[in-house]
Amino acid sequence: MDKTICLDNLVPSKPYAVRYASPHRSNERITMRLAFHRAGTGIYIRQFLRNEASGRSLKSFRPFGPSFTLQRYKEKRRVLKNYLQPRCEADQGGSVYSGAAFSDTANHGDAEHNDLSVVEEPVSEKFYLSSVAVDPLWISGKPDAIDLSTPCEDGAAEDPHWRKDHDEGDSSPKKSIKKPRISEEKRVEEEAWVLLRKSVVNYCGNPVGTVAANDPSDTDSLNYDQVFVRDFVPSALAFLLKGEPEIVRNFLLHTLQLQSWEKTVDCYSPGRGLMPASFKVKTVPVEGSEDNAMEEVLDPDFGEAAIGRVAPVDSGLWWIILLRAYCKCTGDYGLQERVDVQVGIKLILKLCLADGFDMFPTLLVTDGSCMIDRRMGIHGHPLEIQSLFYSALRCAREMLLPQDGVIDLIRAVNSRLCALSYHVREHYWVDLRKLNEIYRYKTEEYSHDAVNKFNIYPEQIPLWLVDWMPNHGGYMIGNLQPAHMDFRFFSLGNLWAVVGSLATEDQSEAILNFIEEKWDDIIGTMPLKIAFPALEYDEWRIITGSDPKNTPWSYHNGGSWPTLLWQFTAACLKVGRGDLARKALKVAEKRLSSDKWPEYYDTRTGRFIGKQARLFQTWSIAGYLVAKMLLEDPDAVNILTFEEDLTLLEAMSCPIDSNPRRKRSKKVHMV
Ligand code: GLC
Repeated sequence: MDKTICLDNLVPSKPYAVRYASPHRSNERITMRLAFHRAGTGIYIRQFLRNEASGRSLKSFRPFGPSFTLQRYKEKRRVLKNYLQPRCEADQGGSVYSGAAFSDTANHGDAEHNDLSVVEEPVSEKFYLSSVAVDPLWISGKPDAIDLSTPCEDGAAEDPHWRKDHDEGDSSPKKSIKKPRISEEKRVEEEAWVLLRKSVVNYCGNPVGTVAANDPSDTDSLNYDQVFVRDFVPSALAFLLKGEPEIVRNFLLHTLQLQSWEKTVDCYSPGRGLMPASFKVKTVPVEGSEDNAMEEVLDPDFGEAAIGRVAPVDSGLWWIILLRAYCKCTGDYGLQERVDVQVGIKLILKLCLADGFDMFPTLLVTDGSCMIDRRMGIHGHPLEIQSLFYSALRCAREMLLPQDGVIDLIRAVNSRLCALSYHVREHYWVDLRKLNEIYRYKTEEYSHDAVNKFNIYPEQIPLWLVDWMPNHGGYMIGNLQPAHMDFRFFSLGNLWAVVGSLATEDQSEAILNFIEEKWDDIIGTMPLKIAFPALEYDEWRIITGSDPKNTPWSYHNGGSWPTLLWQFTAACLKVGRGDLARKALKVAEKRLSSDKWPEYYDTRTGRFIGKQARLFQTWSIAGYLVAKMLLEDPDAVNILTFEEDLTLLEAMSCPIDSNPRRKRSKKVHMV
């Protein structure tokens, strides 16, 4: 029989004995004497033992909840090892598991002596111990003889209440012992739902949206207490996938009313089709009322109050994309057929398809007109806008009723779709082969048949890209203008090019292969990097205007945004790479809840919570939920995606001929 191993206890007070043993091997029994240290601090010994016994990596093992990092664990383990020197190990074959867990050193008091006892009777309890801090842990028996292969019952894998109790500073042990065991993932998911529901904004008693952030520690909420159109999209999808579409319908109809709002910036009125960046529910006195009656009104911001007065070009595009998702998910096609909704779609299209001076089929916009809503050198033809534009055009084409006057509009949509996809697929795409082609470009070509159409100087290829570009995979560059290629990788634009089929099937696969190859840079310790790499030094000074919020590897300038997880998941599912999405979700799941759902993370790999990041940011919460729900039901992604349009593909063969004089005779009509 194993001999008792006696050790000095490092942890004090209220000893609490818990017995457990392998249910499968009655001759190998383990007893542990545990010191109850702090309620709410838990371990999962079962996994720990399994890892130890199999010599596997402990990377996924979190003895004390999500914020207890591997590094801290290793440090504690080293300290503990000094104490855990088995006295009789050699001759008795007993083992001491030096990885016994600690909660927080600051809470350790005086030492107390405990010894190991050996149980003679098999104990058939689960290995899992919930809400107990163990210091130290004694075990007798050979590790390889311990059968740890049985899965835990009812998902009891981690301490479900660690954070809650920890946050509340509750030191009473009994509370957490009695709580039902749920897995950490389940707990995080439940927390996310509670927070998402708390962020709901009501208007005249009905839910109409979710606030951007609900950070109680925030003294100056700026406009984060408003419902942002782009931020609401993941909230809307979460509610749709949960079978609660009412809020989405209300949102779509109320923002539609705001679309026709009279808006002016310095006496100039933008087009009627513009959708607001955000809106707020305000309570104001009823006009002309004598009894001080109050009423609720929606107060939109079309950029007139926004920092930098940026135009929310993406809002209308998101609105159309969400409308289609709502109708496909609920089957309530009556909504898209309503006269006011049809008018709304047409107004947005009118704005986007208006003639201008531009030579390109891509949409010409000012800096900061999308998710990156401040100066970041993304004026002109940024990829994000083009990807959303393409999707919105395809959604609109699907939803427009073929009434009088619409045929011409649909024709215009078709030609734009065709030209846009050709232009982006051909000229935004970079991989090793294309990069090499650009490297050997001749410049100053004056001809219809120029190879280097945009007069790109090969010197523009940044040094970082020469090494960074992998042998396999590729991506769409951030922006293309005359004599200018912005080679930065922008996640949202690339992911949405996959989701909406702006990228070809091969390109879509290559984009995900690229992300897989560049995992540490794009996913790192928190998915997903908004843009890579960051602008530094002179580039940062010149391009951002020395923006203190967009310093290198922070915020829009190379920060990591958890909300992008849902878009990543949608793109992965579209090309059958759910494995990548699952892997990224695991990375996010480790930190999001314990970090209080930040808006963004800083540093090259996303190790710090963003310098000025709001906590309890709604689209971080909703993005996580949508990613989870999509992975549970991958078919649901169809409400967002498009397959390759073969008619468009066929029609595209005409613009491939670069000489417009030859091209004109081949005009293709797809209506
Ligand atoms: C920041 C983001 C923007 C977002 C807003 C509200 O300004 O850049 O994309 O909509 O916060 O969350």
